[in-house]
Amino acid sequence: MNIKKTRHKSGGKATKQPGSRKPTKADKADIHALYEQSVQSTEFEYEFIDTNFRRIRGRKAKLLREDFCGTAQMCCEWVRGRKSNHAIGVDLDADVLQWGREHHIAALKPEEKARVTMLQENVLSVKADPVDIVVAMNFSWQIFQQRSVLRDYFASVHAGLADDGILFLDSFGGYDAYREIEEKTRHKGFTYVWDQASYDPVSGRMLCHIHFNFNDGSRLKKAFTYEWRLYGLPELRDILLDAGFSNVTIYWQGWDEDDEPDGNFQPATVGEADPGWIAMVSAEK
Ligand SMILES: C[S@@+](CC[C@H](N)C(=O)[O-])C[C@H]1O[C@@H](n2cnc3c(N)ncnc32)[C@H](O)[C@@H]1O
Repeated sequence: MNIKKTRHKSGGKATKQPGSRKPTKADKADIHALYEQSVQSTEFEYEFIDTNFRRIRGRKAKLLREDFCGTAQMCCEWVRGRKSNHAIGVDLDADVLQWGREHHIAALKPEEKARVTMLQENVLSVKADPVDIVVAMNFSWQIFQQRSVLRDYFASVHAGLADDGILFLDSFGGYDAYREIEEKTRHKGFTYVWDQASYDPVSGRMLCHIHFNFNDGSRLKKAFTYEWRLYGLPELRDILLDAGFSNVTIYWQGWDEDDEPDGNFQPATVGEADPGWIAMVSAEK
C-alpha cells in the first residue's frame, strides 16, 4: 500500500509548492474508504459464511477469525450480527489496523467492541483460540506464491480451527485473469481501476495495482499493489486437501435477468468457461 503526492508545473512558472494550489480530489482521498467501497461486500460475506456454516455443521458459528483483515470490516459485521459472535482480526500492517480501529471499531457499541480482538501478526504464525470460522477474502491468500508456503498457511489455519471448523475464501479466474488488462468500474465521484499489470505463465505470478481516477482529472496511481500467484481451483482444492482439510466445496454464482452475475453462490461440481469469474470456497476441518 503506498500513496504518492505529485508536484505540478503551470504556465512555465516556477514549480508551485504543494499547498499553494487547490488540493485535488486525489490529494484529499482516503484510500481505505475507496478500497472498501470498490471491492468489499461484508453483508454478502456474512450471509454466505453464516448460512453455509449452519448448512454444513447444523449449528450457529460464534468465533470468527478474519485473516488478512485489513480494516477489519468483516470482524465488525460479524459482532454486530449476534450477541454471541466474537471476532479476531489478523493483519501485518499497523496503519490499516489503526484505520480500522478509528473508523470501524470506534463505531461499534461498547459491548460489541468487547467482542473484537485485533492482532498485528503474520497469518502464517498467529496463535489464537480455536475458532469456528476463518475467512481469507479478496484473494489475499494468493500472496503465498510457493505451493509449500500456501499449504503451510492452510495447515496452520486447519490447526487453528475448532474440531468442526470451516475455512471460507474466494478465488477468481477465467481467461481474462491471465491477460494484462485494466478493468474500470465507475462509482460516485471516482472510478476504481483494477490493473493486471503483468502475468508470467511460467511461475503463475501476477502483479496487480488498484488506481483511483477522480472526476476533477486527478488520479491516485498504485494506491494498492499486489504480487500474487494465480492459483486455479483444482490446484487450490488439492493444496487444501494436502493441508488436512476433509472436504472442499466450490460455490458458483448464476446470472440475473440482465445477464449480470446474481451473487447467489451455490455448491457446484462444474463451472462455466467465462472470461472472468469469482468463486467462493469452503474447506471443512
Ligand atoms: C487484499 S488486502 C485484503 C483486505 C480484506 N481482507 C478484504 O477482504 O478486502 C490484503 C491484506 O493482507 C495483509 N497481509 C499480507 N500478508 C499478510 C500476512 N502474511 N499476515 C497478515 N496479513 C497479511 C495486508 O497488510 C493487507 O491488509
